[in-house]
Amino acid sequence: KQILFATSEAVPFIKTGGLADVAGSLPKYFDKEKYDVRVMLPKYMCMKEEWRDQLEYVTHFYMDLNWRTEYVGILKMEYEGITFYFIDNEYYFSGWAPYGEVFGDVEKFAFFSKAVLSALPVIEFRPDIIHCHDWQTGLIPVYLDNFRYGNEYYRGIKTIMTIHNLKFQGTWEVNRIQNITGLPPYYFTSDKLEAYGDANYLKGGIVYADKVTTVSNTYAEEIKTPFYGERLDGLMNARANCLTGIVNGIDYGDFNPETDKYIFKNYTVSNFRKEKIKNKTALQEELGLEQNPKTMLIGIVSRLTDQKGFDLIAHVMDEMCQDSVQFAVLGTGEERYENMFRHFAWKYPGKVSANIYYSEPVSHKIYAGCDAFLMPSLFEPCGLSQLMSLRYGTVPIVRETGGLKDTVEPYNEFEKTGTGFSFSNYNAHEMLGTVRYAQSIYYDKKRDWNKIVERGMQKDFSWKNSAKQYEELYDNL
Ligand code: ADP
Ligand code: GLC
Repeated sequence: KQILFATSEAVPFIKTGGLADVAGSLPKYFDKEKYDVRVMLPKYMCMKEEWRDQLEYVTHFYMDLNWRTEYVGILKMEYEGITFYFIDNEYYFSGWAPYGEVFGDVEKFAFFSKAVLSALPVIEFRPDIIHCHDWQTGLIPVYLDNFRYGNEYYRGIKTIMTIHNLKFQGTWEVNRIQNITGLPPYYFTSDKLEAYGDANYLKGGIVYADKVTTVSNTYAEEIKTPFYGERLDGLMNARANCLTGIVNGIDYGDFNPETDKYIFKNYTVSNFRKEKIKNKTALQEELGLEQNPKTMLIGIVSRLTDQKGFDLIAHVMDEMCQDSVQFAVLGTGEERYENMFRHFAWKYPGKVSANIYYSEPVSHKIYAGCDAFLMPSLFEPCGLSQLMSLRYGTVPIVRETGGLKDTVEPYNEFEKTGTGFSFSNYNAHEMLGTVRYAQSIYYDKKRDWNKIVERGMQKDFSWKNSAKQYEELYDNL
């Protein structure tokens, strides 16, 4: 079977969040005998030069996007056994980041979606299935429907729409979108693209895809309710028969405390008791935290947005800082949260370290060097950071939502089970209580704590199981 991943980001080329981790690593884990999985993404100018320089020009052609004719360049690169294709157009993809203004983005990804389909006959790769990821590729199933009428080539290609985050839908005025996309008015009724007066790419993708998936079972259920449904819960219910949850994995090659090049000291599940702590003291030194191997160090690596529960942290950070804990924060995002962490770092020097930037190496050092990892998300389709934490023996403290609920098993002190700590209501004091409970185990019952670490490290969140589930889905189409 031939499968094409269409995505707006993929590691190692370009990343703003977990979508890139998934789109860049999952393709490696399919049975190569049976599945030829390739990936197509934009060639952004903001990609690191080391990658841009390695791309090999394949061909180019011109494509109509309503009244305009646009250049479509195709480049490619083999990376770790996977073929990545890059769609080139300097007008659309020369920004300093993959995403920018909403209107620019909806136009950019209309172009990308149509270009993906138009490129297939040119590169002579006719996929049986196009696997689309998030709103940026939502128009692919829609264009495909439109292309089928006049063109035999496109008949029989199936599509899967995977929702990594229902919050982002790609919406704009119907007239403008009709104009940009060149799609006939037929597509802009409320049973198709239109939602609440606007054209909605993700909705189009969900309506027209043969199957819809999301990245955890719990999120698949949650999005059928108004609280999590982002105003598309009705649609999610309507498509419930075609909707499944497949939990994400992480790349166990890239995220491996035994071989990780970024971390200070490598370790395994059998020697973490002695070795992991060396990562902690090195991290404390590097981040300007008070150097004390005994103090509980809590990590945060995240986009700084409402989704991740930072208003809960804002509420009780002062209280948390009265305890004997330290925080190592790494993230960028909304200014108020960036400033909030800068403020607390200023107020509690040696106790809170605010690192407001993006850094792969520092993220690994935090996953390896901390004792616990805090992720109190308001909603979380899957979440990868808690999986990375588990892999590095850093105990996750999470809110029970979406993938966090499916991947972190709460500690039960009576049965001596569990891999982390969790709370259910979106309430700052409930979070505080949970953090304090975790502290009490950390400080007073070190043996039990180490068992939690050990159980977490022994869990398997590699892609092995989930890739199988995608294979089954491909086979069933
Ligand atoms: P989301 O996709 O919603 O941002 P995930 O937990 O699925 O959340 O994935 C986030 C990914 O981005 C993880 O790989 C995490 O390590 C990484 N990440 C987030 N912020 C940063 C940062 N400032 N520096 C390095 N990596 C980051
Ligand atoms: C989204 C979600 C996150 C998920 C990631 C990869 O960005 O916010 O929960 O892990 O996509 O699927």
